[in-house]
Amino acid sequence: MARIAVIPGDGVGKEVTREAVKALRALEAHGGPALDIVEWPHGADRYLETGQSITDAEFADLESNYQAILLGALGDPRVPGNEHARQILLGMRFRLDLYINFRPVRLYHERLTPLKGKTERDIDFVIFRENTEGVYVGMGGTFKQGTPDEVAIQEDVNTRTGVERIIRAAFDHAKANGLERVTMSDKANAMESAGGLWRRVFKQVSAEYPEIQTEALYVDMLAMDLVRRPERYQVIVAGNLFGDILSDLGAGIAGGLGLTASANIHPGRVSMFEPVHGSAPDIAGQDRANPFAAVLTSALMLRHLGHREAGDRLENAVRACILAGETTAELGGTLGTAAAGDAIVARLENS
Ligand SMILES: NC(=O)c1ccc[n+]([C@@H]2O[C@H](COP(=O)([O-])OP(=O)(O)OC[C@H]3O[C@@H](n4cnc5c(N)ncnc54)[C@H](O)[C@@H]3O)[C@@H](O)[C@H]2O)c1
Repeated sequence: MARIAVIPGDGVGKEVTREAVKALRALEAHGGPALDIVEWPHGADRYLETGQSITDAEFADLESNYQAILLGALGDPRVPGNEHARQILLGMRFRLDLYINFRPVRLYHERLTPLKGKTERDIDFVIFRENTEGVYVGMGGTFKQGTPDEVAIQEDVNTRTGVERIIRAAFDHAKANGLERVTMSDKANAMESAGGLWRRVFKQVSAEYPEIQTEALYVDMLAMDLVRRPERYQVIVAGNLFGDILSDLGAGIAGGLGLTASANIHPGRVSMFEPVHGSAPDIAGQDRANPFAAVLTSALMLRHLGHREAGDRLENAVRACILAGETTAELGGTLGTAAAGDAIVARLENS
């Protein structure tokens, strides 16, 4: 039985995670997989009480004794600089070496996209964002800070190992899911060193997947085309910065933060699953947060754990609720967080 650490975290993270766990339990009661769910108290309250975000021993425990982590959101105005959130989120990403940031972009109803004339058939692709390198490693510094001569340098780190493993993950996903094309995105015309490495490795890895079409597009071109012709894309792979931006473009054209799920994966090791939205202090505690992103995130987790059919049932329950208008207010419905979770459970009981 898979062991899962559930970290509700802060703000609406606690509310949406409650609904996600409710859905997982309902699934379990109706033919779905049994899960060993352990709730972890990590978040701002614990940090403010004890001064601890997450310890080395707890990281070791996650690595050795769990298959997945389901996280709500971290962020609290009472913690200066959100130190606890940084330590937990970046700690997991780098220490657990979660090199794949996987973001599905799928439209469930045409009324949810701002793109004119696009339907559910047109918006359905996945993004593989490199999650451990690039400009986000924090290498660099400033010189003569605060003076008119100030210099700021932020290094963009790309290793062959890092580039190769994320590109391979994108191809493996395409192959496993019968998809035809993988698009690699970079800025090789302006960033020649990094882009050159990405293009060489992309070409080399693609030779192992002769049945899959490939293309390399500059990220600015791709951003424009995703808005004009999203139907062209199936699998996109990019570095940390460009993948981050493209992922949010994807969220924007497929229903927004209330529906956007993500996975942070290292195949064969403990991996972390989280809705993309934050702790939303502006609506926390008001039963207004949309739990669907957390439920869709749980579906990603189930599939990752090998329970593909159970993951599909969760996603279908969300889709059915959206089609029936059983949603929270930001998607046009009248339900609160808990009632939207109940609507999912009702669908699961009949699926
Ligand atoms: N991965 C994470 O845990 C994560 C991600 C982003 C932000 N944060 C943290 O969350 C806090 C708030 O950040 P923010 O306001 O920039 O981003 P946010 O995602 O929390 O909120 C942005 C806007 O979207 C709305 N929103 C968010 N989730 C929603 C949901 N499930 N249903 C309906 N509406 C929703 C909010 O009300 C707000 O108006 C900050 O402390 C930030 O650091 C955490």
